[in-house]
Amino acid sequence: MVSYGIKELILKGKDAVHQEVIVKGWVRSFRSNRFIALNDGSTIQNIQVVIDYESLEEKILNQISVGASIKVKGEVVESQGRGQEIEIQAKKIEIYGAVNPEELQETILQPKKHSLEKLREQAHLRFRTNTFGAIMRVRHALMFAIHKYYNDHGFFYINTPIITGSDAEGAGEMFNLTNFDLDNLPLGDDSLVDYKQDFFGKKTHLTVSGQLEAEAAAMGLGKVYTFGPTFRAENSNTSRHLAEFWMIEPEVAFNDLDDNMDLAEDFMKYVVQYALDHCQDDLAFLDERFNKEQSQKPKDQRSDLGLIERLEYILKNKFVRLTYTEAIEILKNSKPNKKGKFKYPIEEWGADLQSEHERYLVEKHFKSPVILFDYPADIKAFYMRLNQDKKTVRAMDVLFPGIGEIIGGSQREERLDVLKEKMETMHIDSEELWWYIDTRRFGTVPHSGFGLGLERLVLFVTGMGNIRDVIPFPRTPKNAAF
Ligand code: 4AD
Ligand code: MG
Repeated sequence: MVSYGIKELILKGKDAVHQEVIVKGWVRSFRSNRFIALNDGSTIQNIQVVIDYESLEEKILNQISVGASIKVKGEVVESQGRGQEIEIQAKKIEIYGAVNPEELQETILQPKKHSLEKLREQAHLRFRTNTFGAIMRVRHALMFAIHKYYNDHGFFYINTPIITGSDAEGAGEMFNLTNFDLDNLPLGDDSLVDYKQDFFGKKTHLTVSGQLEAEAAAMGLGKVYTFGPTFRAENSNTSRHLAEFWMIEPEVAFNDLDDNMDLAEDFMKYVVQYALDHCQDDLAFLDERFNKEQSQKPKDQRSDLGLIERLEYILKNKFVRLTYTEAIEILKNSKPNKKGKFKYPIEEWGADLQSEHERYLVEKHFKSPVILFDYPADIKAFYMRLNQDKKTVRAMDVLFPGIGEIIGGSQREERLDVLKEKMETMHIDSEELWWYIDTRRFGTVPHSGFGLGLERLVLFVTGMGNIRDVIPFPRTPKNAAF
């Protein structure tokens, strides 16, 4: 008697015929008091369990229903029905957890179509749906591929702090972190909160990025990456923003911006290829889902390509690279801009690009991923390397179809004097960041890096429309359930 995971057993297929096996899982459907579709999460596929009505105890039979968890002992046989190679002829069934059918009615486990909103309300149960199961397996594969890519390319995985004392990066609004009793805050002589009495003896926050610490690590280890949770208290209730998300930040000593773009493109293609190679069942399911969703959209908002086609398209084509200045020219003269279709019209150089502009460039103008670079210094962070024109910095954003910005990065300002001047004009606290400045004092080198939002990548690969559906338990404004 061998115990199998369902994925493993299905993979064995006809080789397993005549074997006595044990499988465990949750009942997805139960037809004609005879056919159980059993799933254990290892794959989107179910194994069919056929029971012999007569030979099973009534007590057991009554407890087999959708949602119940069971253990099956039986013999693998060739399936008579269509849709599967093998099935299990059950000899014995044990019930782990039965389900009251009436209570099941209230849940998303009952087998019918539920809205994604409804699934979110029962996020603890949605792991058992086909859609969310597929997304979570793809998410896992992508995370694994990310580690594999960097490991295989000689990068070291660095864990940067989640609790930080510097609020200098300016990447987003921060969450404060304290162990003060908030109803009874200690005040100083100036009647302001006295943070010296707080746990760390100063004001602290949850990190918005591990970059600055990763830079320090790269100045000794050469090639590093971080991959951890990141927190932003922006009140942006969009389908692309989370208050807690996971970010991958490679940082490489001696890389200039061109190297940085090459790394970003190679990396993105690698992880997309990895998903195509390792998540075929799940992507086939999500592809079908994507096509159905697209067909319900107005024509001008539909994707020209199916999900898998879009992933393959990314692999085949070189990302378009153009400067911010070139992009502004294209946008200024674009139809939607002239016809007043943009919510934020592009009037002049210096404007910050919104996701509508990014998506116009990617989806309508170039029909390709785009890397925009050399942005105006005024709209980018202090640490980005100043160009000779003194107006632009060596920033880059990678823009993807259906997503907009998926990566943000730059070549860093490695010149001590330029950095210090920049910090001063941008009111960055150089006392707090003394250690960051130190990295430019002791053997500074040109270096570059970027940040990829994991959930934006998962959105792209799964073709889902809302970032809340690609992370197990999303945190967004006014929502921290589960
Ligand atoms: O462009 P951002 O803010 O860049 C940084 O934080 C740099 N320190 C990265 C670096 O150079 N090491 O964020 C990087 C990426 C974005 O392109 C986006 O994919 C994702 O992080 N991101 C978010 N994802 C989900 N929810 C949010 N609120 C996000 N904010 C940024
Ligand atoms: Mg950005």
